[in-house]
Amino acid sequence: MLNIGILGALGYTGCEIISYLTKHPKVKIVKLWDKEMINKKISSIFPEFKNILDIKIQEFNIKDLKNIDVVFLSLPHTVSLKLAPEIVGKVKLVIDLSADYRFQDAGIYEKWYGIKHEDKKNLKGAVYGLPEIMRDKIKGAQFIANPGCYPTSMILGLYPLAKEGLLKNANVIVDAKTGASGAGRKKSNDLLAKDINENIKPYKVNKHQHMPEVVHFLQNEFNVKFNLNFIPQLISLKRGIMSMIYVIFKNKPAKNLYPIYKKYYGKEQFVRLYNKGFYPELKGILNSNFCDLGYLDFLDTNTFLIISCIDNLGKGAASQAVQNMNVALGLKESMSLL
Ligand SMILES: NC(=O)c1ccc[n+]([C@@H]2O[C@H](COP(=O)([O-])OP(=O)(O)OC[C@H]3O[C@@H](n4cnc5c(N)ncnc54)[C@H](OP(=O)(O)O)[C@@H]3O)[C@@H](O)[C@H]2O)c1
Repeated sequence: MLNIGILGALGYTGCEIISYLTKHPKVKIVKLWDKEMINKKISSIFPEFKNILDIKIQEFNIKDLKNIDVVFLSLPHTVSLKLAPEIVGKVKLVIDLSADYRFQDAGIYEKWYGIKHEDKKNLKGAVYGLPEIMRDKIKGAQFIANPGCYPTSMILGLYPLAKEGLLKNANVIVDAKTGASGAGRKKSNDLLAKDINENIKPYKVNKHQHMPEVVHFLQNEFNVKFNLNFIPQLISLKRGIMSMIYVIFKNKPAKNLYPIYKKYYGKEQFVRLYNKGFYPELKGILNSNFCDLGYLDFLDTNTFLIISCIDNLGKGAASQAVQNMNVALGLKESMSLL
């Protein structure tokens, strides 16, 4: 059995990781750390864990790492940056769900997240945890930067085009809708029920911090330059992301592109392709590790549409973190995820 500790256990993604790992046959959750509710049993805070996990919330102490194999950092960005240097190297595997180690170029992180990156050593060793693309590097990794939720939906949609060199010089427009859980459980005046219910609210248009993550990753991995416009919208939902990805090619590729998606995802269990005439929808992926991709066809001469659906707390965060753990430690990749 692998012993697991979760930092930020009371947050949205922390709780999701607990849900997945309590069903995992090869692990045991032994420590839950957070800032509040110290000494309270997790099952007394969240009744869904009653008789399933009854351990207490504790304040993080470096001595706790002694018997731990894997630590999940379900922490706000900048908090992981402070704590990861104390933990990486002391356990078999650390998986950080924040953005703090997602950019190999620290300058981009510093520009978009507004603080200096003080842990270049671990940044260099961090592997971007998108298993369908980075599986070989994730195997045996000791530190994984779990991707952001919107970036997971966008990158999985664009990857086959990037890999085939077709994205070069394209103009990509992403119109994406998400639910309120994407912002975490903290109180915020932007997330009042009266403003979210029965509403669609665009925010951070072309200013969202997930834009540079998509561009940086695809440029770094596939040496491809393209233009990205991103229009995120908050809608009246708890969870889920639907990204409409429009790729406007300078010159229409001569070939039908659906077979390219088949080539890269045909054997992937967590990326499901929809055939012509059927559209992915949120209901198909909620509470799961699936990314459903559909349409995958031209709307007009030069505009190709990809519809990409994920659960922001699942494939966009917690279940992807568990998938990464399984791959990194040589366990069956789908363990506790199907
Ligand atoms: N929500 C999503 O859909 C999603 C998707 C992908 C990635 N992520 C990323 O995953 C990370 C966690 O997100 P989340 O949605 O789970 O956030 P969250 O709901 O706000 O949870 C974060 C938890 O960490 C706790 N925490 C903060 N500082 C701490 C410290 N020093 N020691 C111990 N615990 C501490 C928080 O406590 P307090 O509330 O008391 O501060 C809170 O319980 C973030 O970096 C986020 O960007 C989130």
